[in-house]
Amino acid sequence: MAVTIKDIAQRIGVSVSTVSMVLNGKDYRISPATREKVEAAAREMNYRPNRMAAGLVTKTSKTLGLIVPDITNSYFAEMAAVIEAKCADNGYSLFLCTTNYMPEHDVKYTNLLLEQGVDGILFVMSVDGHNHRAGECLQLLREAGVPILLLDQEWSNDIAVNVISDNEQGGYLAVRHLLELGHVRVGSLTGPAGTQTSQKRLSGYKRALQEYDLPFDPKLIVEGNFRTDSGYDQCDVLLAQNVTAIFAYNDMMALGIYKRLREKGIRVPEDISLVGYDNLNFTDCLEVPLTTIYQPAAQMGETAVVKMLQMLAKERPQDVVFAPKLIIRASTSPLL
Ligand code: RIB
Repeated sequence: MAVTIKDIAQRIGVSVSTVSMVLNGKDYRISPATREKVEAAAREMNYRPNRMAAGLVTKTSKTLGLIVPDITNSYFAEMAAVIEAKCADNGYSLFLCTTNYMPEHDVKYTNLLLEQGVDGILFVMSVDGHNHRAGECLQLLREAGVPILLLDQEWSNDIAVNVISDNEQGGYLAVRHLLELGHVRVGSLTGPAGTQTSQKRLSGYKRALQEYDLPFDPKLIVEGNFRTDSGYDQCDVLLAQNVTAIFAYNDMMALGIYKRLREKGIRVPEDISLVGYDNLNFTDCLEVPLTTIYQPAAQMGETAVVKMLQMLAKERPQDVVFAPKLIIRASTSPLL
């Protein structure tokens, strides 16, 4: 049977409210000796607070949910690690859900987290613009009155706060760098077409072309899925268009491109220049270190928790947009 505060009170001969105050950190008027006695008994008796019961009184569960599309992408792993640590620092536990980029799982996990009684949800949506799953999730959260913070993928709406980086600028910086090096046939491997990050990075690509008075060629735009396998699979499609440079919309896909190019004996950067996105931790350890766009995953995760705590305190924080940075390494070189 689970040990209760009543059991502890009986064991050491103090009142239930004394034990409750000590274990809930509200023990300002209790002597240090009594406090130590309560804490020692709780430890010895393996006392575990019943969060559900506490939640019935406070109407909070001290838990948050985090929904991400892909935990094998270390961009999200880094974000999740920081979020969990920041939650713990503030007395919150975190439920982590991975959707594998399946919009229907966004809805499934939104429902699940609401059933768990989380106080708020930090959400990297997989949803794309075509199937309106985002709207469905937001409606569920609106009805439940649970604060929602959208991370990485923004979605214009009336209830969520967005913490993102400037994806249009990131796409622009990547492609401008390639154009400056003299490339004019720049292949673009996007993520799923409906994702906001892909759409914005593509807008940045187009802005850079315009600045250089180059026409936009839709044949140079190929859709990927943000995973290594699609970099590998779609590489040949781009090569068939005689591209001299490729902008992959994340480092995971750039990794797949590296693999395929190596198999075909195509050298980076001598034959093809390659730019990724995210600046994942392995990108500077590759045989040819990858030129990429940095976005501050850890800082974004930390900011998301700060903003969520403000929302839980009934404030309405502003959206935050971080600036991306171009990191030039060895995978890009002037067109010969
Ligand atoms: O969701 C996939 C990609 O979008 C990530 O790799 C990161 O670039 C994010 O912004």
